Amino acid sequence: MPNSLFRKKSIEIIQRDYEKGLEDGHAMGLKKVLGVRDLTFMGIAAVIGAGIFSTIGTAAFQGGPGVIFLFIITAVTCGFTALCYAEFASRVPVSGSAYTYSYVTFGELIAWIIGWALILEYAIGNIVVAISWSAYFNHLLEGFGIHLPDWLTIGYQTAKIKYDAALQAHQSINDLIYTHAPMIAGIKFIINLPAFVIVILITILAYIGISESKKSANFMVGLKLIVLAFVVVLGFYLIFSNHTTTNWIPFLPNGMNGVLKGVSSVFFAYIGFDAISTTAEECSNPRRDMPRGMLYSLMICTVIYILVALVITGLVNYKEFEGVADPLAYVFAKINMQKIGIIIAVSAVVASTSVLLVFQIGQPRIWMSMSRDGLMPKPFSRVSKRFKTPSFATIITGFLVGIPVLFIDDVLMTDLTSIGTLFAFVLVCSGVLALPKIKKEKDKFQIPYINGKWLVPLLMIIFVFLSKDRIQAAFGNISNENYEEILFLVFILVLIVAAVLSFIKNYSLIPVFGALCCLYLMISIPAKSWLVFFAWMSLGLIIYFIYGKKKSKLRRSHS
Ligand code: ALA
Repeated sequence: MPNSLFRKKSIEIIQRDYEKGLEDGHAMGLKKVLGVRDLTFMGIAAVIGAGIFSTIGTAAFQGGPGVIFLFIITAVTCGFTALCYAEFASRVPVSGSAYTYSYVTFGELIAWIIGWALILEYAIGNIVVAISWSAYFNHLLEGFGIHLPDWLTIGYQTAKIKYDAALQAHQSINDLIYTHAPMIAGIKFIINLPAFVIVILITILAYIGISESKKSANFMVGLKLIVLAFVVVLGFYLIFSNHTTTNWIPFLPNGMNGVLKGVSSVFFAYIGFDAISTTAEECSNPRRDMPRGMLYSLMICTVIYILVALVITGLVNYKEFEGVADPLAYVFAKINMQKIGIIIAVSAVVASTSVLLVFQIGQPRIWMSMSRDGLMPKPFSRVSKRFKTPSFATIITGFLVGIPVLFIDDVLMTDLTSIGTLFAFVLVCSGVLALPKIKKEKDKFQIPYINGKWLVPLLMIIFVFLSKDRIQAAFGNISNENYEEILFLVFILVLIVAAVLSFIKNYSLIPVFGALCCLYLMISIPAKSWLVFFAWMSLGLIIYFIYGKKKSKLRRSHS
């Protein structure tokens, strides 16, 4: 029985299933239209969105100009992971992303767990993006003198949180949305209508076809890159001509601790480069183009993020970013250039739209792969004959994202998205270590092998030495159920195990570093969000044991 949980799919079987097309006419061929430029654009489309336009404000407030170090640390972590994704994508060129990769390396149960965690990245991630989209969209409407009733512009939960906080702080509640919203059947009627409408429109686009989606994504990426380049050039010009470079001093006002407080927001800004791997079947040459697309998009986004972070912290002192949800528009408004703020709002709306589109394309393709394997019901792998897209799965994604955005608050959702994604990344990096060795082939991407035998243990010793005070304190706090510190101790344990295994098995350095860096970022996310993450994963396990385990195609073929 335990073996059956870890039964693995062979790469050859995946390839054969894919080539043959699945029985019952499900999953007939998708259109192969994507090249390396499209994939790079798709990566940028998925990455640059709500993160850089919204959450960077809080991260800059906590870390000061030194927040660029967090962008660099996160980029390196994502870079390690992208290399691992690239190796997998090159060896397993079918849709399904980390889910399919884990099926090959760790077996069915872990693959299911990953597939379930990826819902956090794509569907829950899109909830956050849609809410941010709606905020910028309303900002734009206001700029044009159009005022929607405010109880139609945010979710019920957000309004209620603000109301409760005001009551608790004994502040006035007269102007709050919750106070004056209309009542329907005894409940305050407060919904985020624009967020709902955009999700539905994007779902329709994703349904209609990959070519249409590709064209729209390329257009949106072009536009956001032009606007961000303009903002960077203008920003640096203003910083040097107004002599505000003094805002960059001190560079690390709150030390590295302050910088690390922004992990969840900064990591959120990078999420998406892996979405490329969900479109492997729509790629003309996935083995060659996937790795390139992922790495190119990551590099371009990193450069943009660092420059934008320097611009905003150079134009305005970092202390002014407390609670600022639209930092880019804010800095230009601060120096009396409101019109630039409008251009930025337009670009934020466009940027978030492209993220929404790529994620709304990604989620159904993961479900499609899971359904082909029998772990999800059959309709999830149904492909529309007319549009050649996963029809049923796309519609369900639309509802899964569209309904919650009407009511829900985004803060917890951001953390959940980051944890779920990091979790998937840890498994992808570890999975590369478990891949069978193959001879180097011209057309296939392989991670450069650096022997981790000595380097990983060395890293472990340095890290443990530098954190000895925290380790001691964590042991002291265990009885107080301080979850953050327990997570930290678990990390130390994993680090030691990784060092020992690397020493014995000569593990390749890049995947080990990738997994450890992701795990470290993961434990920096508040424990409260971890509890919700565990609850979500437990629900997933229950569903697997009730449904997927019995219906698994691999199980049937084995028996
Ligand atoms: N990285 C994506 C964004 O920032 C999720 O919107």
